[in-house]
Parts: sequence; C-alpha cells; structure tokens
Amino acid sequence: MIILACYNIKGGVGKTTTTVNLAHLCALEGARVLVWDLDPQGAASFYFRIKAKVKGGIKRLLSGHSSVRQHIKGTDYHNIDLIPADFSYRHLDVILESLKKSKVRLKKLLKPLADEYDYVFLDCPPSFSMVSENVFYASDALIIPTIPTILSLRTLEQIIRYRDKKALKGTQLIPFFSMVDRRKTMHRMIVEMPPKLGVQFAETDIPYASDVERMGFERKPLILFKPNVRASESYRHLWQEIKGRVDRG
Ligand SMILES: Nc1ncnc2c1ncn2[C@@H]1O[C@H](COP(=O)(O)OP(=O)(O)OP(=O)(O)O)[C@@H](O)[C@H]1O
Ligand SMILES: [Mg+2]
Repeated sequence: MIILACYNIKGGVGKTTTTVNLAHLCALEGARVLVWDLDPQGAASFYFRIKAKVKGGIKRLLSGHSSVRQHIKGTDYHNIDLIPADFSYRHLDVILESLKKSKVRLKKLLKPLADEYDYVFLDCPPSFSMVSENVFYASDALIIPTIPTILSLRTLEQIIRYRDKKALKGTQLIPFFSMVDRRKTMHRMIVEMPPKLGVQFAETDIPYASDVERMGFERKPLILFKPNVRASESYRHLWQEIKGRVDRG
C-alpha cells in the first residue's frame, strides 16, 4: 500500500483537485484506491458526492471507539472508497495533540488496511499543524501543488526544511507546478527554470484552465467530462510520473 498526500501549507493551490483527479486515474488502472478527506471543508467528499456527516465525528475514530473500516464509504467509481470529512475534522489537530504518540496516529490507523488498498490518497487541509506532521509520518510521498510565484517557492522551501529537520528522508517530496498561466512572465520563467531547492519538480505541470474549475459544478473528475483537453492530458502525465517515482522508492 502506497500512501500519497496532496499537501501544501498554502490554501487554494489545487490539492483537492489533484487528489480527485489522480485518485481517479489510479483506480482506472485497476488499483484499489482509498481517498481520505482530512479537511473539515470536506471538498473531496463533495466531489465524490459522499454525504459528509461522520457518526461520532473524527474523535470517535481517533479515540479508538470505532475502527477505520466503519468510516469508509463506497463511491460511484469502481475501486475508489472514501473516508469523508465533516466539520468535526476542525478539531483533528487538538485531538491529535492530546493523544500519546500523536505524530504516528494516522499511520497506525491506516496500517490494518494495507492488504485492502494499493494506494491511499490523503487530501490535506492547508496548514502546518499536528495534522501535517501526521501526514509527513504516514506518507510515502507528498505531492505538492505549487503555483509558480516567489512566495509559493518560499513556502515549498519551508516544507523541505521541515522534512529535513525531522529527518523524514523516507518521505519523498514531489512538487509540481499548479495553475500555470503561461501568459504571465513570472509563471513562464519559474516553470522553465525551477530553482534548485534539492527536490525534483515533476516535469508535468497543470495549466490554469476553466475546465478544471468546472469540476466543482460537474462534481466529477476532469477526464469524465473533458477527456481531451490539455489539462486532462497533463493529469494523465502527472500520474504516470508520480507513479514512476514512488515505485522507484
Ligand atoms: N488548474 C486549475 N485551473 C483553474 N482552476 C483551478 C485549477 N486547479 C484548481 N482550480 C480551482 O481553484 C480552486 C482551489 O482548488 P482546490 O480546491 O483544489 O485547492 P486546495 O489547495 O485544495 O484548496 P484548500 O486549501 O482550500 O483545500 C477551486 O475552485 C478549483 O476549481
Ligand atoms: Mg482542498
């Protein structure tokens, strides 16, 4: 079981969009996929049309009063299950803080599912918190949507420093450029010559496209309603690239 997290400290950079599209592409190849929506906004749950109310909330799960399996729901898609988030996830951080070995809770909760799923996708909230720390410990790789601006690159540097400080060398960082608008000089410059930060950017970037935005309206992965647009092609490439990198370890 490979655990991939779509993560960034920054909000609105394309984490959820990426989670939904990559999880869907992954499942189309026949892999058994679990998506875990960790964000109280519940956007991934919304895209997969899963009612967000979680019985007893996240507290029940983390306190050991329910098993992770009780929280898993099937989706309309073959091979994709989902653990939805509801508003109780806003307390996730505080609950984690209060537990012993709080950094590895997420990892532990996922462990019993190792034979049931090939890939787990974590859709993370935009923050730097105990939740993110858990995500770092649980994941094989962090997929980091990065908008090609100077400030976004600074944020990426913070994430890299954090990983190095915690000596989490086993957690691969896979940043890619997200919402790229090639009409903007700054975007073009950064995408064509990414800074050397000690991590390898994915070669594929995702263009800024209104088709992608429409996913919120369609509530579907992009390739199901716009299979032939450039952004769909980019997501296909991105998935192949990420899969190749995590398989190599
Ligand atoms: N490539 C793109 N082109 C145009 N719009 C995009 C693109 N990717 C995402 N969006 C839009 O940008 C908004 C934010 O995307 P998304 O929800 O995936 O970001 P996020 O990082 O998960 O946000 P949050 O931090 O709030 O969880 C959404 O309205 C989405 O439809
Ligand atoms: Mg999101």
